[in-house]
Amino acid sequence: MTDAILVEGLQKSFGSNTALAGVDLTVPEGSVLGLLGPNGAGKTTVVRILTTLLQPDGGRAEVAGVDVVHEPDRVRSLIGLTGQYAAVDEYLTGFENLEMVGRLYRLGKRESRDRATELLERFDLTDAATRPAKTYSGGMRRRLDIAASLIARPQVLFLDEPTTGLDPRSRLGMWEFIADLAGGGTTILLTTQYLEEADRLADRMVVIDRGRVIARGTADELKAQVGGQRLEFTVTDAAVLPAMVERLRPLAVDAPHVDEQARRLSIPVSGGAEVLADALHRLDGHTAAVFDVGLRRPDLDDVFLALTGHATEESPGADEVPAEPVPTGGVR
Ligand SMILES: Nc1ncnc2c1ncn2[C@@H]1O[C@H](COP(=O)(O)OP(=O)(O)OP(=O)(O)O)[C@@H](O)[C@H]1O
Ligand SMILES: [Mg+2]
Repeated sequence: MTDAILVEGLQKSFGSNTALAGVDLTVPEGSVLGLLGPNGAGKTTVVRILTTLLQPDGGRAEVAGVDVVHEPDRVRSLIGLTGQYAAVDEYLTGFENLEMVGRLYRLGKRESRDRATELLERFDLTDAATRPAKTYSGGMRRRLDIAASLIARPQVLFLDEPTTGLDPRSRLGMWEFIADLAGGGTTILLTTQYLEEADRLADRMVVIDRGRVIARGTADELKAQVGGQRLEFTVTDAAVLPAMVERLRPLAVDAPHVDEQARRLSIPVSGGAEVLADALHRLDGHTAAVFDVGLRRPDLDDVFLALTGHATEESPGADEVPAEPVPTGGVR
């Protein structure tokens, strides 16, 4: 299989800020790569270089075998891009926006119109086709933007956070649509903050942090790196969490993760269902505030937290729980 995207030692700095410090990745033809990483990791910078919007300082990148620095025009004719921020013309209607993009890609007038009609239908925008885009909701703009990136039937598609700002139903629709495109042979590089999205759509993933690749593999390979089961509790009152952490700490094989906002406690454990029984035993009647409890395999969110270390940054208190916690309610 040949690579539709090839990136070697890619570097980019903005003044003294190193956005990319030597990124390597490949995307085999017809597959989907999920490019993941926390805010500021360098994802959009990679996308902008690959789509010829930005020059790299070092390294090289090819799309469909064409060098992005040496032959940017050829690259542009082969790709579609949906940027992180919607790029629709506010004063044109949905139809006119798509028609204009078709003309920019040098499709004939007739074909531009046909493609516009077809894509408006596909993205559920037919009813709004004759309204100026400035009257569209955020989700509608996003859909129009993605439709625009597909006008010229690109071989390689770049989607920078394609579903950010979409409601759950639109997001599911978009996932189906992206999966269809991938099934039809389009190579896709997608960045996302929704790890479930990467899990569903991406054949392989590359995780970057501070401009460097810190992990790569399939979802299963990445999950295996984090290993083990998670014991998870959701409670009705976050105040009981510190006391629960204390009681359950002997079962933890790694640092417990407390998410006060979500009122959730996640503890890496080893073993099977007996751990659950043991945990309930240790809580011994202090379960009034427990709303949900379960044992589950790590998901990509766990992988992400483990890799980027944000779990420990977000819950520095995990090791500072007082010996005699004074819960304000729930645990009695
Ligand atoms: N045009 C620019 N000028 C200066 N700094 C920039 C520019 N573009 C990006 N950066 C910096 O480069 C780094 C990487 O930014 P980038 O937009 O690639 O991150 P990202 O992974 O896409 O983040 P997010 O998840 O927030 O979209 C950041 O530190 C950012 O501030
Ligand atoms: Mg970005």
